[in-house]
Amino acid sequence: MTTPLRVGIVGCGNVALNFHVPAYQALPERYEIVGLADPTPERLELGRETAGLTAEQVHLDAAALLAREDVDVIDVCTPQHLHRDLVVAAAAAGKHVLCEKPIAARPADAAAMVEAAQQAGVVLGVMHNYLFFPEVVALTALIGSGELGEVRTVTVNMLGVVDSPGAAGYRPQWRHDPAAAGGGVLMDMLHGVYLAEHLLGAPVTGVSAFVDSATDGDAVEGLALCRLEAGRRAGLVDIGWGMGQGGIAVHGTLGRAVAHYRADGTMPWAPFERLTVTTAAGTRTADLPAGQELGPLIADAMRDTVADLAEAIEAKQDPAADGAAALHTLETTVAAYASAALGRTVAVPLPTDGPLHQAGVLGLQDIDVPADSPLRRRGLFGLTTGA
Ligand SMILES: NC(=O)c1ccc[n+]([C@@H]2O[C@H](COP(=O)([O-])OP(=O)(O)OC[C@H]3O[C@@H](n4cnc5c(N)ncnc54)[C@H](O)[C@@H]3O)[C@@H](O)[C@H]2O)c1
Repeated sequence: MTTPLRVGIVGCGNVALNFHVPAYQALPERYEIVGLADPTPERLELGRETAGLTAEQVHLDAAALLAREDVDVIDVCTPQHLHRDLVVAAAAAGKHVLCEKPIAARPADAAAMVEAAQQAGVVLGVMHNYLFFPEVVALTALIGSGELGEVRTVTVNMLGVVDSPGAAGYRPQWRHDPAAAGGGVLMDMLHGVYLAEHLLGAPVTGVSAFVDSATDGDAVEGLALCRLEAGRRAGLVDIGWGMGQGGIAVHGTLGRAVAHYRADGTMPWAPFERLTVTTAAGTRTADLPAGQELGPLIADAMRDTVADLAEAIEAKQDPAADGAAALHTLETTVAAYASAALGRTVAVPLPTDGPLHQAGVLGLQDIDVPADSPLRRRGLFGLTTGA
């Protein structure tokens, strides 16, 4: 038996304490949590209690945790605009890294993180946990079996996303600040973007999109309808805060598969109900148990993600989502914003010397967004009408 990997978690917000801590604790043979860091004293203390650590094991300054020799893996759970410096420093200190999604708010930051991990020879995994949802695993296997033929379209509907605030002691509304979050509901739920591409089984090379705010005066979008081009395959990813429909549909040359959620709602808030498969032979329901409610669903998917990371570290192989894959997902998402602003399809990858790669959604301020763009009228992402 190998010794458990010793983990230090940076950021003791909602995701860290509700899901990452239990995920590691569910795998005592693979992981031991040995430290935490958070500059917000009340979150650090809550984290210390949740993880069962001593006062000496927790730090207000992440640098103290990164400097410790008894830490093998750093898990970065801060808001995304803070990921780069922490991940680069962790890699430089020789630690393997798990980073929450989105990998960063700006593609250039993500590229710097990928580079730092490569230079240091450490694994950089990203928490793309929806890949481990049971119905996604089942859809992947179904596609692999050939029963649906060649995949042509994938539709991911997540129009009933709940606008959850961040931890009260920090900045509960950081998801509505484009400088911190890098976008709105689409950026927060870019799970839909990587899921669509994963099920398409081909790299996205172009994006077109419609985005709009949910309420007047909001600086980020609350609705995003995206079309992802991947050769002859295409994904439709619709994401919005509110009460709209959810579900996943894969359509191939020989059939279709549709994942249904409670009351046609949006995962993970609405639990998975059933997967139907329709071919010329008729319609059948796949043999899958009904899904779990949000809490245990996310906890299990994060447990499986960190188990996969441990395998990757041990076997010196790529995790389910590595830094380069997450950078591509981020660029695809930023391309959706650019498409909505410019009114045309935007190619992925983004030019590395351009404002979108360098500054993410805020880079829209430095490109030629038409004067009559609805994004300007809405005041999204710092764009103005100049009036
Ligand atoms: N994979 C998922 O399903 C999922 C779910 C929720 C959140 N997330 C991601 O997790 C990240 C955190 O989200 P959250 O909801 O937990 O946010 P949150 O607002 O609840 O918590 C953020 C925490 O980071 C801490 N922090 C701020 N600056 C720090 C620093 N320099 N060093 C260490 N800690 C610092 C804050 O004090 C706070 O405790 C985001 O990137 C988010 O997108 C992922």
